[in-house]
Amino acid sequence: MTKLISINRKINLLKKKTIQVEGDKSLSIRFVLLSSLSKGKCTAKNLLKSEDVINTIKSIKKLGIKIKFNKNYCEVYGRGLKGYKFKRNIILDAGNSGTAARLLSAAIIDTNQTIKITGDASLKKRDMGRIIEPLSKFGAKLRGNKKKLPISIKGPKTLKPITYHENLGSAQCKSAVMIAALKTKGKTKIKCLPSRNHTEIMFKKVLKVPIKIKKLKKFEFIEIKGLNEFEKFNYNIPGDISSASFFIVLTLLSKNSYLTIKNVNINPSRIGIIKVLNKMGAKIKFLNERNYKGELVSDIFVKSVNNLKPINLDPRLNSSAIDEFLLIFLVASKCNGISKFIKLSELNKKESKRLDWGIKILKMIGVKVHKIENHGIKIWGDKNLELNKKYEIKNFLKDHRVFMVSTIAALTLGGKWKIYDSDSSKTSFPSFLKILRSLGAIIK
Ligand code: S3P
Repeated sequence: MTKLISINRKINLLKKKTIQVEGDKSLSIRFVLLSSLSKGKCTAKNLLKSEDVINTIKSIKKLGIKIKFNKNYCEVYGRGLKGYKFKRNIILDAGNSGTAARLLSAAIIDTNQTIKITGDASLKKRDMGRIIEPLSKFGAKLRGNKKKLPISIKGPKTLKPITYHENLGSAQCKSAVMIAALKTKGKTKIKCLPSRNHTEIMFKKVLKVPIKIKKLKKFEFIEIKGLNEFEKFNYNIPGDISSASFFIVLTLLSKNSYLTIKNVNINPSRIGIIKVLNKMGAKIKFLNERNYKGELVSDIFVKSVNNLKPINLDPRLNSSAIDEFLLIFLVASKCNGISKFIKLSELNKKESKRLDWGIKILKMIGVKVHKIENHGIKIWGDKNLELNKKYEIKNFLKDHRVFMVSTIAALTLGGKWKIYDSDSSKTSFPSFLKILRSLGAIIK
């Protein structure tokens, strides 16, 4: 039975509330993977207890690594770069997580027995060719029907370093090659488009592996010297800006509201949404900024604005806002004028076809939206957009972000909504509905 929620009235956000969102998903998955390759007992506080992270943990456990996970505290007993020990014919199930599937593939690139990686119905539709190609160059055998999951992986006797050109702006592809490079003797060289840089920061500031990073205008160059063991480490995961964004937009689009979100990761490669919203007239502020092991962390203060401006978005900001576009489309529909976004082909390669879903939801609520050339869309916004009809959101491949953005739309625009697959928020943000209710949302 799929669970559904009903929302029949807008939220009345109480003023000056403070909330905290759960740990960052990208950092949580990277902690689990990299600690399993370290030498000794690593600990994490505030690790995200979501399905994507739990599936990563289950997979790493199958590779013979002891992991304890209680509340949000996690211990991983790393066994070094070549420490995985496992039974024959194991299958690792990444569930819904592209990050887990792609980074796990790299972590097992040196396996001497074939390992299968699979995932749920949504993940089985996603492209694995983007990692099969570079990981094969290291000498491993990766096989998958039509470059989709399930794929099987077997390593060669010795891996050889590669030169790789990443041109999708994908942190998952870049990170997969970086993790494979750890297991490979010699220097692996990467030329990549900018994307979230958590793996680079962890390598440099936490693991202290030999890495060189050079940033040029369009591209970045990364060089990693492999086969250097690294010591155990401890990590305190800051809150997830992607989760915080739902509450930022909720506040922005509600009347006379204020909200502070404590302890959020504001890595510059992740704050595209803040830059976009501030360009549209929001006045979102970072308070109490600090540096934690190379990652920027702060509290975020947001208040409602009733005169938002449309935007013609520079596509160079796309990568740093890649998981937040459905929210950005929602804001664009609630400001006077036409907004334009281009080069969004990657959006249709996520947990569901998010560009198509964005268009579908906007059309459903009566917003004029057109597809334009260069994988773009134009949105005709209206500051006075108010809804009063019935809306149903279903069959979205259980994409957590489609579920959550629909909930925010219902709570800010009005109308009577039925939104299916509410369990999907457990993928990345299990306390989403609980926090909404604590702010006064009436959700049945
Ligand atoms: C992620 C990278 C992004 C993002 C995903 C998490 C990561 O995907 O959409 O939610 O943790 O590296 P791509 O790298 O495929 O763009």
